[in-house]
Amino acid sequence: MRAVTWHGRADVQVDTVPDPTLQEDTDVVVEITSSGICGSDLHLIEVMAPFMTKGDVMGHEPMGVVREVGSAVTAVKPGDRVVVPFNISCGTCWMCSQGLQSQCETTQNREQGFGASLFGYTKLYGQVPGGQAEYLRVPFGNTLPIKVPDGPSDDRFVYLSDVLPTSWQAVQYAATPPGGTLLVLGLGPIGDMCTRIAAHLGLRVVASDVVPERLARATARGTEVIASTDQDDVVGEIREKTDGRGADAVIDAVGMEAHGSPGAQLAQKATAILPDALMAQVMKVAGIDRLAAFNTAIEAVRRGGTVSLSGVYGGATDPVPLMRMFDKQIQLRMGQANVWRWVPDILPLLVDGDPLGVDDFATHRVPLEQAPQAYADFREKKDGAVKVLLQP
Ligand SMILES: NC(=O)c1ccc[n+]([C@@H]2O[C@H](COP(=O)([O-])OP(=O)(O)OC[C@H]3O[C@@H](n4cnc5c(N)ncnc54)[C@H](O)[C@@H]3O)[C@@H](O)[C@H]2O)c1
Ligand SMILES: [Zn+2]
Ligand SMILES: [Zn+2]
Repeated sequence: MRAVTWHGRADVQVDTVPDPTLQEDTDVVVEITSSGICGSDLHLIEVMAPFMTKGDVMGHEPMGVVREVGSAVTAVKPGDRVVVPFNISCGTCWMCSQGLQSQCETTQNREQGFGASLFGYTKLYGQVPGGQAEYLRVPFGNTLPIKVPDGPSDDRFVYLSDVLPTSWQAVQYAATPPGGTLLVLGLGPIGDMCTRIAAHLGLRVVASDVVPERLARATARGTEVIASTDQDDVVGEIREKTDGRGADAVIDAVGMEAHGSPGAQLAQKATAILPDALMAQVMKVAGIDRLAAFNTAIEAVRRGGTVSLSGVYGGATDPVPLMRMFDKQIQLRMGQANVWRWVPDILPLLVDGDPLGVDDFATHRVPLEQAPQAYADFREKKDGAVKVLLQP
């Protein structure tokens, strides 16, 4: 089959790789019809490169049609339409039963000291082949795939794999009080969807970014925007909008590659000159992130407010302003999204109308073969690329 594979820094290609097969009697094989490119994929092709291996199949936002099922699978059958969550979670362990699927005890990567395996996502998370491919082997066929109805186009459901539960969790973790103001940093797919969910839940939403078409998308749906990512600008404007206090809650939908952290950017770039095996060790004990968005969040939130991180961080020795956080009495919540935890909340919003605007959320739908160009455009934010769906 054809699949998007990792070849090196900023280098993904489309290769022919072996077709996936059933390995356990609970496996299913899904023929992929749509598969998103995520901001997390951009971390993998750059900063997280030391944890990747040439030939790794990318992708963790897939949906498609079940083609083969193992002998113990009863929950889905060939021909069923399914979305595949990016967490590989068993659905039955203690963590899964607590709604903490990203910490699944069956797939936790204990030798690496990391949480549940993820599709298409580094050695730290199991090095499991991903879903930017024609076919995907999906374990836990009775509990992992999300069955969705036939009828609406893939756009309606594909974001259940990641964008929707990630953004839903970010908004829930932010716990903005009724009548309060939520500030969303970053208007990539995750930040954009956070603004839509928060507005749907009746919150006042303000968002910051600098990419014109991303700001325009948010404005068009009624979000107040701050067209800057400079900390002083953002903190100044949000205080002006909130009687000088700051936002009740802030979502950081940016993560480890924020604009405006030149020192850390240099350190991240320096990793490129060390051999990857050595660099992986260095990163595990001494890695640092670009903390510009995180620091803005800490300053922009009001005293006693909440900061919710959905942006991914990978640093081991980040200089976090704990004194400031302690003094301001900030609550901090974060983590990979627990996809299944939020599916029952989200699914009704997809089958009964389209209040979140998922039908025209994608800016680009391209054949799998065009993945290298699509990655480059999304990374450079060229050609209006906000959300790209690969359609094998
Ligand atoms: N927690 C999870 O489960 C989960 C799931 C999916 C994605 N993510 C993470 O969410 C983050 C966003 O993903 P995305 O797909 O929207 O990516 P993206 O790269 O398209 O979006 C990031 C946006 O942040 C903006 N930005 C950069 N620096 C900023 C700053 N200092 N202040 C405000 N905005 C700034 C950029 O211009 C860009 O528009 C990534 O870190 C990704 O890895 C996490
Ligand atoms: Zn993702
Ligand atoms: Zn589990």
